[in-house]
Amino acid sequence: MSDATEPGSYFVSNYPPFSRWRADAVPDVLAAFAAPPITADLGLYLHVPFCRKRCKFCYFRVYTDVAASDVERYSVALAAEASLAAATPAVAGRPLRYVYFGGGTPSFLSVKQLERLVAGLHASFGWDDAEEVTFECEPGTLSEPKVRALKSLGMTRISLGVENFDDAILEANGRAHLSAEIHRAWDWIVAAGFPSTNVDLIAGMVGETFESWQRTVERTLALAADSVTIYQLELPYNTVFVRDAKDGGGAVPVADWPTKRAWVDWAFDRFGAAGYSVSSAYTLVRDPARVQFRYRDMLWEGSDLVALGVASFGHLSGLHYQNETQWDDYLQAVESGRLPIHRGLRPTRRELLIRELVLGLKRGRIDAGRLQRKFGIDPRTEWAAVWGELEAGGYLEPGRTDPLLTRRGLLEIDRLLPSFFEDSAGPPPGAGKTAANS
Ligand SMILES: C[S@@+](CC[C@H](N)C(=O)[O-])C[C@H]1O[C@@H](n2cnc3c(N)ncnc32)[C@H](O)[C@@H]1O
Ligand code: SF4
Repeated sequence: MSDATEPGSYFVSNYPPFSRWRADAVPDVLAAFAAPPITADLGLYLHVPFCRKRCKFCYFRVYTDVAASDVERYSVALAAEASLAAATPAVAGRPLRYVYFGGGTPSFLSVKQLERLVAGLHASFGWDDAEEVTFECEPGTLSEPKVRALKSLGMTRISLGVENFDDAILEANGRAHLSAEIHRAWDWIVAAGFPSTNVDLIAGMVGETFESWQRTVERTLALAADSVTIYQLELPYNTVFVRDAKDGGGAVPVADWPTKRAWVDWAFDRFGAAGYSVSSAYTLVRDPARVQFRYRDMLWEGSDLVALGVASFGHLSGLHYQNETQWDDYLQAVESGRLPIHRGLRPTRRELLIRELVLGLKRGRIDAGRLQRKFGIDPRTEWAAVWGELEAGGYLEPGRTDPLLTRRGLLEIDRLLPSFFEDSAGPPPGAGKTAANS
């Protein structure tokens, strides 16, 4: 891989890769919904695909310029899909351990739309006992009454897409908000008293310099969020940046990978000096004893995840699946009373082990004993050659019983993980943090 940030996906969000998921696995997925559950933990992901503007770096399934009637129709469909899923033998009666409202921009919805959506979902799924209910927000979509409504609707973790504090950088990257809206929204979030708050940053947006990045980190520190997520900018093919560059015949002016890594490295040190600890390749937490990531940890350890919404990714009884990826197909399926499954994959036991191994490594360490008990294979001996290469490259702490990544290994994690993939799996996974986010 060259050091330049070239077009293409880099982030590993699942295994086996999406390129292997097929429509002919849909009957298997439906059969899994129709059978009793075999996995203990259950979560719910809802995709809200609306945004005020499409950020030039974003590759998620999002719609802008939508009519109020489209939002209404979609919200009704989400509630209808929830009731279809909740009535299946695999899901009926099971408590939700975590809920995640992702997007797109869930906070795009008005207070009235949110109240109706949550009431519709509650008709099928109770989540009063869920350990975590996360809600993603874009700063400019929030108002004080909306933030208070989110609290009373039961959201426990608010995740704010800040990305950067420099107005020129926010504008150049097509963000719909400026820094003043971040501060305004943050004050409302703090005042509402959510159990947990998170801020998303991106290292290496177009126009970023080390000085502007340092200012963004300092201003983020001043917010004192419970956790901070830092992604390194990648340029999947379906982004505005890549399409514009192709039309104009040029390259996107994004810092190269070593520079972005150095910026994240600096940020990890700076947050560390302020009392935060590194909790994964992307996440810093202020108080590890208090801040949990139920969504991330349970999903990465193989929990079931019922996925609602267009193009959503789910996981049930050991199968991967994705919902219909087109607006009309999704709505037509749900409105005619069908689960809107588009494609799926039944991984082998070995592939499920690799999935948990690589996702676990994003936290910097694996619990080899847990994986051995669950899959009957000791990953330390099974991938001894890979561990040896990682150690020789300075990516793994030497002499540990359970593999532990060095800072260097953490910063390059998505480039290193394909070493564990099987040849038959093809190239590293394609685009999309959706449903396996952060
Ligand atoms: C669904 S968005 C968060 C909520 C809301 N839509 C927003 O942007 O404020 C999820 C996060 O993915 C990250 N992201 C999106 N595109 C990215 C890219 N090309 N490279 C790195 N991170 C990206 C951003 O940090 C963004 O906050
Ligand atoms: S980064 Fe967030 S706000 Fe921007 S287009 Fe993607 S989902 Fe929408």
